[in-house]
Amino acid sequence: MTEREKELHAEAWKEAEKLKNTVEKDPYRQQYHLMPPSGLLNDPNGWIQWQGTYHLFFQWNPYRPDHQHKFWGHYTSADLVGWQLEPIALAPSEWYEKNGCYSGSSIDLNGKLALLYTGNVKDENNNRESYQCLAVSENGIDFEKKGPVVDELPEGYTAHFRDPKVWKENGSYYFVIGAQTENLEGEVLLYRSEDFHTWECLGPIAGAQRNGLGRFGYMWECPDYFRLGSTDVLIVSPQGLDREEMKYENTYQAGYFLGNADLQKVDFQHGEFHELDEGFEFYAPQTTEDEHGRRILIGWMGVPDSDEEYQPTVKEGWVHCMTIPRELHSDGTIITQSPVKELEELREGTPLEMRIALSFGAEAVVTPASEIILDTKEAGDFQLKLRDEAELSYNGADQILTLSRPRFRDGEKETRKCRVDRLEELRLYLDSSSLEVFINQGEKVMTARYFPEQHANTVKVSGADGSLTWKSWELKS
Ligand code: FRU
Repeated sequence: MTEREKELHAEAWKEAEKLKNTVEKDPYRQQYHLMPPSGLLNDPNGWIQWQGTYHLFFQWNPYRPDHQHKFWGHYTSADLVGWQLEPIALAPSEWYEKNGCYSGSSIDLNGKLALLYTGNVKDENNNRESYQCLAVSENGIDFEKKGPVVDELPEGYTAHFRDPKVWKENGSYYFVIGAQTENLEGEVLLYRSEDFHTWECLGPIAGAQRNGLGRFGYMWECPDYFRLGSTDVLIVSPQGLDREEMKYENTYQAGYFLGNADLQKVDFQHGEFHELDEGFEFYAPQTTEDEHGRRILIGWMGVPDSDEEYQPTVKEGWVHCMTIPRELHSDGTIITQSPVKELEELREGTPLEMRIALSFGAEAVVTPASEIILDTKEAGDFQLKLRDEAELSYNGADQILTLSRPRFRDGEKETRKCRVDRLEELRLYLDSSSLEVFINQGEKVMTARYFPEQHANTVKVSGADGSLTWKSWELKS
C-alpha cells in the first residue's frame, strides 16, 4: 500500500468510527441484510466465491450518507448467512481514480483475486474521464493497484463509460461495460484480452437501436452477462426510460434481456426487456456463479437520484443496504429468482402455521425480522397490512398485486403495481426496515425499504372470500 492509501484508509475508518455510536443505536439497522458500517452504500461490486469464500465488495462513502466519496468496502462470508466486514479494499488514492473507485467486478487471475473497476476522474469544470483499472490480491484482503488497463474511450462514446463486468471463456478474458453514445443513447460494449493487460474493444453487443429497441434510455449502467440454462442473459440498469403503466415506475430501472449471443461476431439477438424487480428500491445488481454452479444475484436496495436524503436513517449517519442473495433460474422465457437455500438457516424455533378464512381475517404478531410463506391458491382478493406501514393487496379481477407505503419525502401514499395472472404463493422476507416479496416462486419480485414504528409488530390479513395458509418464522440476526 502507498502512503497515500494508508492515510486514506486510516482517515476513513476514523470517520466511520465516529459515526458508529449513532449508527449502531438506530432501530432501523437491519438484522440480516448487508449495510454500510457508516455512511452510504450503493452498488454491489466484485461479487465472487473465491477459494471457497464469498466476497462482496460495495460502493461505499464511509464519511457520511451521501455520494461524495466512493471507496470499495468489503464483506466476506463462508456460507451466505454470516458476514464479516473486512478492511477497505480500494480507496481513491491515485490520479486515475481521484473522484472515486467506481463499480466493477472480480475474477480469479492465475490464482490471485483481481478487481477490474472504473477510475472516475473529474476536472474543475466537471468534465469526466474514465479509466478501467486493475488491482490484485494474493490473500483476497489486501489489494495492490496496477493502474489502468484501458485508458481511452472508443470513438463515438462519451465519458459515461463504466462498470466493467469480467469473465473468462474459451481461454480468453472478456468484459462488458456500460456506455453512452455521442447521440446520448445507452449501450453495452464488449472487450476481449488474452493476457488481461491489453484489451481490444470489439464494439457494442447491445443497446438502443438494436434488436428493435428504438430509443431506450440515455445511459446503461452496470451490465452483467452470463449463460443461464440454455439462454444468454444480459442484465443492465438503463437510465431514462419513460414510465409506462405498471412499468419503469422508479427513477431508474434494472432488468434483463434473454437471447443468443455470439461473442466472436459481437452479436446478441435478444427479446424484450424485463424488470428484475417491480418494487421501490432495486438497482445495479451483480451476479456470480458459485462453486455449486448456482448463479446468485445481489442488488443494491436503492435507486440513484431518488430522494434518499429523506430516509430516516440519514440523520443517524447511514443509508441503504443490499438485497438478500437470490438464486437465478431460467426456462428461456423469463428469469425466476429465489432466496438462496442457506437463508433457511436464519429460521428460529417452530413456525407459526394457520389457515386464515379471509372473511374473518387474522392478525399475526411478528418480529421485525421474519419470513412468511402464504399459499394463496384458494384466496379471493386480499390485503396484508405490514407492521402498520406498508400494504400488499391482490385484485384477482385486474390480476394486479399492489405494494404501497408512505413516500419518504412527505408521507403521501405511493404504490408500485405488477401483473400476476394467477397468484399462488407469496414469500415475504421482512427485516427491520425492508421487505422483499417473492411472487409465485420468484416469477416476479417486489423490494422496498420501509420504516415502521418500533412498537408496530403485526401483519393483518383481510379479504372478502376464500382462505389462505400462513407459515412464518422469526429470523435470527
Ligand atoms: C450505479 C453507479 C455506477 C457507478 C457507481 C458510482 O449506481 O452510478 O454506474 O460506477 O454507481 O458509485
